[in-house]
Amino acid sequence: MIDRRRFLVTGAAAAAATPMLAACGRKEEPVVRPEGVPVSPFGKKSTAEEVTEGIDLKGKVALVTGATSGLGLETMRVLAMRGAHVIGTGRTLDKAREACASVPGQTTPVALELERFETIATAADQVRELGVAIDMLVCNAGIMALPKLEQVYGLEKQFVVNHLGHFILGNRLLPQVKAAKQGRVVVVSSYGYVWAPPSGIEFDNLSGERGYEPNKMYGQSKLANALFAFELARRLEGTGATANAVHPGIINTNLGRHFEAWKRIAASLVGWTFMKSVEEGAATSCYVATAPALADVTGRYFEDCNPVVPVAGKHMDDVTLAGQLWAKSEELTAQYLV
Ligand SMILES: NC(=O)c1ccc[n+]([C@@H]2O[C@H](COP(=O)([O-])OP(=O)(O)OC[C@H]3O[C@@H](n4cnc5c(N)ncnc54)[C@H](OP(=O)(O)O)[C@@H]3O)[C@@H](O)[C@H]2O)c1
Repeated sequence: MIDRRRFLVTGAAAAAATPMLAACGRKEEPVVRPEGVPVSPFGKKSTAEEVTEGIDLKGKVALVTGATSGLGLETMRVLAMRGAHVIGTGRTLDKAREACASVPGQTTPVALELERFETIATAADQVRELGVAIDMLVCNAGIMALPKLEQVYGLEKQFVVNHLGHFILGNRLLPQVKAAKQGRVVVVSSYGYVWAPPSGIEFDNLSGERGYEPNKMYGQSKLANALFAFELARRLEGTGATANAVHPGIINTNLGRHFEAWKRIAASLVGWTFMKSVEEGAATSCYVATAPALADVTGRYFEDCNPVVPVAGKHMDDVTLAGQLWAKSEELTAQYLV
């Protein structure tokens, strides 16, 4: 017999959680595939282990940011399991060490605090000193939907951590990526790009002070992640290195740490009905980082281990905006880029 109270609680939780959680997932609408990009046999339920099965990463080096939790930790675990030497970053060296020690295989912990630009430069220098080429640079670390406006360097914090921090790291490590036989940059974006402001990136409001909304600013930062990958892809043309953006799906990780308690409870009560597991959530990053079929694929957006044409009218195909974002990001971080 159905426990009526449990049914009501779960039902209410589901109703409460749906808009919040669906917000970081893709709506059930027809998926359009871009022409000329290989389609894989994998999908929503594929795990990172499944999509890398049979791929030998011995001799290859990956760097995964935010390797201490959720998708980054699983991405590091699976890439290391396939033989790669994984440089796993954490906000402190202790955290990075603990995460690296928790997975079998060859890993190197590095401290990287994306909201302190000088530590990014230090981390990049440490990686350079290892003297290795980087085959896979997975820009994964992130924060979501800070309830109140927080600023770093006078800029809205999600834009800084999710985008500018990775912009500095990516640029500083570009020579190492280019030195790899076929270097790949994988930027973990989100379907949340659809929440970005109508203009895409509000260059006149990067402080976030005008009309701060947690999801809108998260959306802006995730649009910035994708535009960074697309513009980087354009700049890497002819080098053999690639850059792509991914949406991992909806996964109940620590990313929701800033949600109100009731939302987190709702997610843990009903999330299993429609969310991916962490193993499934890391699959798209691992697929794009390793699939032999994607050696020449660059400047694309992926969901559920496959290329997808992003939603029209949401600036994902805005080449001009991508160029403007690059120029503005360079201006804001100039002293940390060299
Ligand atoms: N989970 C989802 O449903 C979902 C959906 C779409 C996109 N994504 C994207 O997937 C990526 C991974 O998220 P997740 O779900 O795995 O979340 P998570 O479990 O919270 O992991 C985020 C990682 O980023 C690190 N991080 C946070 N702030 C940082 C900073 N200032 N400097 C350096 N590292 C920092 C965290 O370190 P600490 O734990 O020490 O703070 C942690 O290692 C994010 O970019 C997120 O936007 C996730």
